[in-house]
Parts: sequence; structure tokens; C-alpha cells
Amino acid sequence: MKASILTFGCQMNEHDSQRMGSLLESIGYKVEPHSTEADVVVINTCSVREKPQERLTHVLNGLKNAKKKNPDMNIVVTGCVAQQKGREIIDEYPFVDAVIGPDAEDRLVEYLREARRSGPKVDVDQQDKFSYQDTLVLEDSVSTSHAYITVVKGCDSFCSYCIVPYVRGRERSRNIDEIVQDAQKLVSKGFSSITLLGQNIARFGKENNEDLPSLLRRVSDIKGLKRLSFLTSHPKDFSSEIIRCFEELDNLCPQLHLPAQHGSNKILKAMNRGYTREDYLKVIEELKRSRVWDKLCLTTDVIIGFPEEDEKDFADLMDLMEKAEFDNSYSFIYSARPGTVAHKKYGEEQDPANRKVFVDRLARYQERQKQIAFNKNKRLEGKVLELLVEGSSQKDPDKFSGRTSGGKVVNFSSKEKLFPGSYVMVKIVKAHPTHLSGEL
Ligand code: SAH
Ligand code: SF4
Ligand code: F3S
Repeated sequence: MKASILTFGCQMNEHDSQRMGSLLESIGYKVEPHSTEADVVVINTCSVREKPQERLTHVLNGLKNAKKKNPDMNIVVTGCVAQQKGREIIDEYPFVDAVIGPDAEDRLVEYLREARRSGPKVDVDQQDKFSYQDTLVLEDSVSTSHAYITVVKGCDSFCSYCIVPYVRGRERSRNIDEIVQDAQKLVSKGFSSITLLGQNIARFGKENNEDLPSLLRRVSDIKGLKRLSFLTSHPKDFSSEIIRCFEELDNLCPQLHLPAQHGSNKILKAMNRGYTREDYLKVIEELKRSRVWDKLCLTTDVIIGFPEEDEKDFADLMDLMEKAEFDNSYSFIYSARPGTVAHKKYGEEQDPANRKVFVDRLARYQERQKQIAFNKNKRLEGKVLELLVEGSSQKDPDKFSGRTSGGKVVNFSSKEKLFPGSYVMVKIVKAHPTHLSGEL
């Protein structure tokens, strides 16, 4: 029996897919990448922008015929679009067997059985508490040595453009003790690299009187854990204490994802981000003064073309990018999400003339970001860095790729066969805008 899982969206969805994959494995399925020939097809969806949301429609249209050919196939829609649309998905696509929201995905197996017995099943209930029974890992993923642990679910920040607080519900943290047990279990299974996840992880632990620095210290202490990282930190909740952790904890990777979203105070305010450009740059200044800066891989998210963004606002964003020297930016054009405050205030699509301006600004932003990243990567030329091997090239068995502790991808050759999950020392010989080349 074969199952396939197609995943859209963020790392949290990726992690949820891994959990669902291991549930399916536990009842005898072989889990593979998306296939229209599997016996169970799970589509784990994202609604953060219109584009990823539209993909669900394409995939379901493609599956309609597959299901006609194989009526025993089960199709399950999970994730954020499932949460948002619930039963509507079954009304529109009656061949879907189950619609399961992010808080109910651990019951996938039970719902598959119920759907086979008595027809389509919908569960989009949100839970008040966040506690897992156990860490689930896909057996296959052990070989890559890297695992995620979600430590805080949901989001209470309500940035005006964002659908996440509506589809992922209220912010809820797990207890540090529970997380540490989970992490210990993963490390004993062979995972040497762990990433802790939360939409705004800087607010981790609020309801339990715990906080992110305490969590980082406890997990970092686990014997055998070589790499610890965490995301995403909201600038309004980021603290100096987290910088101390970077300085003090040897296995805490020098990676910080600190989404700026914009560089103009007018736009930041309209986005309800809760900080000014000056606040953001103050954090950057503090990072620059700290011991971690030389190694730090700083990344960000930005939204271009938020309603009322003018050339002056855009210039402020470009200026912020210059000052922060990001290693990478995930940049997208604003997409109005029904139900959000910005959608209520500014409405649906923007006029096409404006859209052209925004597309042009996005290209300018990305071009400059590429140069900055290239310059930053050039500083690594000649350095010898430790890599976690991730895989080898399909075409050339001598070519491998791995990640630095900062998270940068390095391609290198080795005559000797290397296995994913091992650590090697590699000399960086050439920088590129998006990756590095090295020699073993
Ligand atoms: N919790 C994280 C990530 C949220 S979603 C954070 O606070 O940054 C990932 C990214 O998608 C966001 O950082 C934002 O840049 C982008 N995004 C969210 N809503 C969007 C929208 N309506 N239009 C365009 N981009 C959006
Ligand atoms: Fe969305 Fe803002 Fe929450 Fe991030 S912090 S998930 S952008 S509402
Ligand atoms: Fe998308 Fe949901 Fe993540 S909307 S970005 S999959 S939280």
C-alpha cells in the first residue's frame, strides 16, 4: 500500500506532513512524494497567499480522474486551507474523503477508517492546549539527521495582512520538560540537528511562565545534539537574552530569521507589526556588536506592494536592507487574504497599473538582495567550515551537498562515498549568490 503527501507552505506544514507520514507508515503504508497513483493521497495546504491556495484547486482537479480510475483511493485535504474552508471543500469536490485542520491531523488514521466506513469526514476543531503524545518520525528521515519540533502553535500577533492567526488559532506553547524529552528521544534515534518551530517563537512559553532562552539552554544541553536552531522570531518580541544564547551556546547555530516585512514606518504601522524601523535597526545594531555577528546568517521576509506603499516607502525598505545586510530575503508581493483586517480595509486586488509598479519594485529588491548575499558569501571564501552532509548528486556520484551551521548550502566533491547525516570539514573555494562551492 502506498501513500503520498504533497506539502505547501511553511516548515510547520512540512513538519506536520512528516508526522502524518509516520502515522501512515505505522499502519503499513509506504510513504512517497506526490503521486496520483497512491492509495492514500494527502494534500497539506497553505493559504498565506493566493497562489499556494490556488494550487489545491489544480491538484484536486488532477485527482478527479485518478479517483475515477481507482475508486478505492482516499484523498485527504489537511492544513490551512482545510481549516479555513472545512466542509466547503467536500461540497465542491465530493470525491474528497476527509478535511482535517492542523489541530486534528494526529487523528488522520482514525478519520481514514471512518471515511471508508461512513463517508466524508471533516474535523477543523481547534484545541485549547498544545501537548503531543509522542514525537513521531518518518523512518526515512533518520538518514538526514535533521528533525523539527513544533514548540508553540498558533499566533496572536494579528499582523493586518496575515491569515495565520485565523487558520492556526491562538498561541499555545508546550512545556519545556515535554520538549526536552522529545528532543532527547530524537537525539537517541540518531538526529543530531534539531530546529524548534513557532510562528512567533520569541513569545514561546508565555502562558507557562517559561521563555525561549530557557528552552534553548535546556535543549542545547542534550548530549549528542550537534546543531540547534529555531524560527521564526518576531522583531517586537526579540530579546537581548536570545543574543546571549547565541554567544554562549556552542551548538546553537548562528542562524536568525527575523522578518522585517517592511522598512517604512507608515507601512509597518498599517501592517500592525508593533515596531518601527528604528526598533528593528536597534536589534541589528545589537547583533552587530555581539560576538555572533561574524558568523550569523541573518534572513528575513518582506512584503512589497502593501496598499499605499509609495516610492519613498520603498526607498526606506531598500535602506533597511542595506543596513541589515541580510543573507537572504523571502520576498513576495502583497496578496489580500479574505478575513484579515487589511482585506477589510483595502479590499481585494489592486489596480493593474499599481501591480506593474510593485512587480518592478520586487525585482529591484531581489536584485540588490542577490548582490548583498553574494558579497556576504564572498567573505567565506578560503574558510574551512563544518558541513552536515545532506545528499549527493543524481548525475555525478562524486558530488555532494551539505549545510554550514549558518544554514548555507555548499556543493563539493569527494572521491570517498559520504552518507547523508555525517559531518565533514570543507574548504570554501568559491562563493555564489545563493550557495557556495567547496573542497573536502
Ligand atoms: N510567523 C512568521 C511567518 C508567517 S507567514 C512571521 O511572522 O514572519 C510567512 C511570510 O509570508 C510572512 O513573513 C510574510 O512575509 C508573508 N505573508 C504573510 N501574509 C502575506 C500576504 N497576505 N501577502 C504576502 N505575503 C504574506
Ligand atoms: Fe502572521 Fe504576523 Fe503571526 Fe507572523 S507574526 S504568523 S506574519 S500574524
Ligand atoms: Fe501557510 Fe499555514 Fe504555514 S497559511 S505559511 S501553511 S501556517
